[in-house]
Amino acid sequence: ARIRACTLCPLCEGRQHAVPGEGSRDARMMLVGEGPGAQEDREGRPFVGAAGQLLDKMLASIGLSREEVYIANVVKCRPPGNRTPYPRECEACLPYLRWQVKLIHPALIVCLGSVAARAIIDPQARITRLHGQFVERKGYVLTGTFHPAALLREEHLKRDAWEDLKAIRRRLE
Ligand code: URA
Repeated sequence: ARIRACTLCPLCEGRQHAVPGEGSRDARMMLVGEGPGAQEDREGRPFVGAAGQLLDKMLASIGLSREEVYIANVVKCRPPGNRTPYPRECEACLPYLRWQVKLIHPALIVCLGSVAARAIIDPQARITRLHGQFVERKGYVLTGTFHPAALLREEHLKRDAWEDLKAIRRRLE
């Protein structure tokens, strides 16, 4: 309710729906994307467009469904024209993600793409370098892999993404 009523940054002005996130209260894994796209803005749900369909397949490939994980984004409102959210928009929205992390308390947080990796792991992060690595911070294990939208654009990244997913599966086990 707080996210849906939020006016902390100008992204609220263009939204149809804020997209807080969804999934299991008991999720052991939280996935964090960049921000809602057009379809997500219409439905108020994360990863329901083309990238979301690939994300569902990626989860299924390691035996998981979206119902048993938690899916969120760095910014909860759609940036106009799907531009990358500005750092000040990410900063304004990050307290919500921190709350979500505290409430769900996942064992593993997976950053999908550079925006999430920069917001959560390291401001200088580049997903091409950082993907597949695991770091521990404040009792959480953090990792990153390619954003499914990037995998749709650049098929050749799928091989590395598959290695990342297998490492995530092993880590969860
Ligand atoms: N891309 C994202 O980063 N998040 C979504 O929810 C959908 C597409």
